Amino acid sequence: MAKKEENNLLNKLVSFAKRRGFIFQSSEIYGGFSSCYDFGPIGVELKNNIKKVWWNEMINLHDNIVGLDASILMSPKVWAASGHLSAGFSDELVECKKCHHRFRKDLLERNKCPDCGGELMEPRKFNLMMKTFVGPVEEEAAVTYLRAETCQGIYVNFKNVMQSMRMKVPFGIAQIGKSFRNEITPKDFIFRTREFEQMEMQWFCDPKDADKFFEYWLKERMDWYLKLGIKKENIRIKETAKKELAHYAKRAVDIEYKFPFGWKEIEGVHNRGDWDLSNHSKHSKQDLSYTGDDGKKFIPYIIETSGGVERTLFTFLCAGFKEVEGGRTKTTDSTKEIEIMLDLNKKLAPIKVAVLPLVKNKEEITKKAKEIFDMLKIHFVCQYDESGSIGRRYRRQDEIGTPFCVTIDFETLEDDNVTLRDRNTMKQDRIKIEHLSQLLKNELS
Ligand code: GAP
Repeated sequence: MAKKEENNLLNKLVSFAKRRGFIFQSSEIYGGFSSCYDFGPIGVELKNNIKKVWWNEMINLHDNIVGLDASILMSPKVWAASGHLSAGFSDELVECKKCHHRFRKDLLERNKCPDCGGELMEPRKFNLMMKTFVGPVEEEAAVTYLRAETCQGIYVNFKNVMQSMRMKVPFGIAQIGKSFRNEITPKDFIFRTREFEQMEMQWFCDPKDADKFFEYWLKERMDWYLKLGIKKENIRIKETAKKELAHYAKRAVDIEYKFPFGWKEIEGVHNRGDWDLSNHSKHSKQDLSYTGDDGKKFIPYIIETSGGVERTLFTFLCAGFKEVEGGRTKTTDSTKEIEIMLDLNKKLAPIKVAVLPLVKNKEEITKKAKEIFDMLKIHFVCQYDESGSIGRRYRRQDEIGTPFCVTIDFETLEDDNVTLRDRNTMKQDRIKIEHLSQLLKNELS
């Protein structure tokens, strides 16, 4: 894709996300706050659905994975032991001598400032941990950090979870939560930000089985994206070269998506070996080894799947965003401009059903529509909308990916049938109100 086209599509997505209530710039009324974003009413539903679908897949569908919600603030000793306070969790920062803009050295294509072409200073190491103080006094003893990855909360709870849940290796612990990194160059809308959420699963296994489980989890994670509608040609895996591996990793494979700005990582599958448990064992002086039923004692190896919630959301937005020149509707000529349709998997769709009275100035119709809305809202996230022409209202729902619209018209008052419209096919069927909930449950499950 040409650079201009890429920017064009990215700009379109940014303004679409704002206009339709998905994503707003943080602190916008004060001119914005760099790299922070707020998820609007439609965006938060999408975000929650992504987390729900991931949680269901990892925890509910696997007997041997359990959940956890560890705190964001932890003892700074955790970060000393994990290696995050040392050079291993630093980026090389370069500064332009002319405009003083700063960049991550590894992301630069040339040894010149990408903004003004100026000469660059010598690189400096820059640690990504976000420092904070616990308590009222800002002194060295009060320093701690906002977590940079959720998994450390899992490692320090390895024994607690294993013992309380009577787990046996191999087993997994999964968690979703916020992480923070003082990124030098947050970039590309919500792709790289300083505050983000991770969905991580840590699989504890016998070292001899680590390679086998690595392949298993890599396939599982790829299949998850494909199942949710990401096209094969837009997703790929990329092995990380040995010399580029993170300080903890024995092996790392990135799952990449073809964004408007190129192929980029959305999730990593890592073999962390015994790095984390050995280091926490050493620093905390606690025995974090495991003894199998056969008496064999070992420090489990960890296979990790680590994805970002915002990057996943961005992936589904890019994948689902469709513009149709001249409009999709062939039956009316009310619109001939570009129509947008968000082709989201039904499980991810922010609003599942829109309830639309054909007209708003006929009380019997709006009353009936509200009754149907009240009946459906117990089961699904629904939206009631009576403003504008019915065609305009259908298009509004298509734009945010609502799979079904239910229209209540004059005939409904006679025969208790409503029109059920499908987002993708635009097919309209007449359905008895008494069958509506069950039919939608079948369609949306
Ligand atoms: N626990 C391993 C770990 O954190 P990572 O490759 O540094 O590994 C995993 O991060 C995932 O977290 C990435 O694939 C990405 O989806 C997300 N992520 C990392 N840094 C991010 C950032 N600055 N903004 C948004 N998402 C980020």
